[in-house]
Amino acid sequence: MRAPRILVTGGAGFIGSHTCVALIAAGYLPVVLDTLVNSDARSLQRVACITGVEPVLVCGDVRDALALDRVFAAYDVSAVVHLAGLKAVGESVVDPVSYYDVNLAGTLALVQAMDRAGVRTLVFSSSATVYGDSQPSPIAESAPYAAVNPYGRTKAMVESLLADLARADARWGIACLRYFNPIGAHESGLLGERPHGPPNNLMPYITQVAAGQRECLVVHGADYDTIDGTGVRDYVHVMDVAEGHVAALRHAARRPGILMANLGTGRGASVLEVVSAFERAMRRPLALRIGPRRPGDAPAYWADARGAWQAFGWRARRDLDQMCADSWRWQAANPHGFDDPAPAHASGLPRFQDNTSTSINSKPGHSHA
Ligand code: NAD
Ligand code: UFG
Repeated sequence: MRAPRILVTGGAGFIGSHTCVALIAAGYLPVVLDTLVNSDARSLQRVACITGVEPVLVCGDVRDALALDRVFAAYDVSAVVHLAGLKAVGESVVDPVSYYDVNLAGTLALVQAMDRAGVRTLVFSSSATVYGDSQPSPIAESAPYAAVNPYGRTKAMVESLLADLARADARWGIACLRYFNPIGAHESGLLGERPHGPPNNLMPYITQVAAGQRECLVVHGADYDTIDGTGVRDYVHVMDVAEGHVAALRHAARRPGILMANLGTGRGASVLEVVSAFERAMRRPLALRIGPRRPGDAPAYWADARGAWQAFGWRARRDLDQMCADSWRWQAANPHGFDDPAPAHASGLPRFQDNTSTSINSKPGHSHA
C-alpha cells in the first residue's frame, strides 16, 4: 500500500522539518509548501539524511489560492499539517497587518482550498500565547482566550475560525496544538533551529553564545516571583512536539470535530535552570548577565499536559537535559547552520521524489511577507 501523503505548510522551518522526520518515521510522505521566508530548503536535505526520504518541496505561499489548488491537484494528499506562519511577537506589534494576512488570511485560503480538494483533516500549529499572561498555571485547554499581542490574537482567531468550520461541517477533523516552548533538535545533530537574524528566543540565543557567535546571554529580569527570580516556561523537546503532530493527525483523521490540545511537559523551568542544564551539556559555563525585564513577558506559566494524553495518547518523553544536549550537539556540529556541509553519507539515499524544488506561485514574481 502507498504511504499517505501529508501536505506540511511551513515544513522547511524549525518545527516543520522535525515534524517531517516524525511523519516519515510513522509511514507518511510529507509534501512541503513553504516560501522559505524564515527557513532554508536544505533543512529538507537533512530530513533525508536522517530518514532516507527527502520530502518534495513546493516553493509557494499559503495565501495563494491557485498555488494551493495546484498542490492538491498534483499530489494526492490525504491531510494537512499547517505550520506556515509568522511568529515573532514584537514584530507582530509593529506590523500587525502582515500577521493577520499570513496567519489568518493564509489559514482561510488553506481551508478553502482543502474543501475544494475534498481534504478535511487538519492539524494546526497554535500556541500557548492564546492564553495570555495572567492565567494560573498549570494552564488547561479550558482556560479562556486572553492573548495580549497581535500574534496571539491571530492564533486565537484561527482557532475560532476552525471551531466554527468543524461545527458547521461534520466532515472536518481538526486538531489545534497549542505549543508551549519548543526547543532542542533532532538527536542526530543533523537538524535543528537556525533563525534568520538575531534570535528572539532563549535557546537559539544560548546556543549562539555557547558557539562564540554572541558575547553573552542577557537574562531578561531576575526579580520575578519565581524560584530564582527569572522567568519560568514549559520547555518541550521539538521531537516530542513533532511526534505530537503524528498522534494528533491520526486522531483527527478518525474523529470528526475539533480538539484543542496543549503540547508541553507540564513542568516549568526558569531561565537559570535552562542555563544550568545547558552548561551540563557543554561542560563549561555560559557567559551571561542579568538585564532588565523584557516588556510584555509573563513571569511564569506551564501547561496542564493531561489533555493530549487523554485525547490521543501523547505525552512528552524527553527532559530538559536532553533538550539542551540535543541543541548543543546541533549547534556544535553546524556552527553556520545549513551552510555547513551535510555528512557524506547523506548522498545516494533513496528519495520519495526528485529533490528539485518546485515553484507553484500563481503570480510571477509573487513576493512573500
Ligand atoms: P519557522 O519560522 O521556523 O517556521 C515557519 C515556516 O513557515 C517557515 O519555514 C517559513 O518560511 C514558512 N512561511 C512563513 N510564511 C509563509 C507563507 N505565507 N506561506 C508559506 N510558508 C510560509 O517557525 P516554527 O518555530 O517552526 O513555527 C511553526 C509554527 O508553529 C508557526 O505557525 C508558529 O506560529 C507556531 N508556534 C511556534 C512556537 C515556537 O516557539 N517555535 C510556539 C508556538 C507556536
Ligand atoms: N529570555 C531571556 N533572554 C533571552 C531570551 C529569552 O532571558 O535572550 C527569557 C524570557 O524573558 C522568558 C524565557 O527566556 O522568560 C523564554 O523566552 P522565549 O523568548 O524563548 O519564549 P517566550 O515564552 O517569550 O515565547 C515563546 C514564543 C512565542 C510563543 C510562546 C508560547 O516566542 O511565540 O513561547 O508559550 F507564543
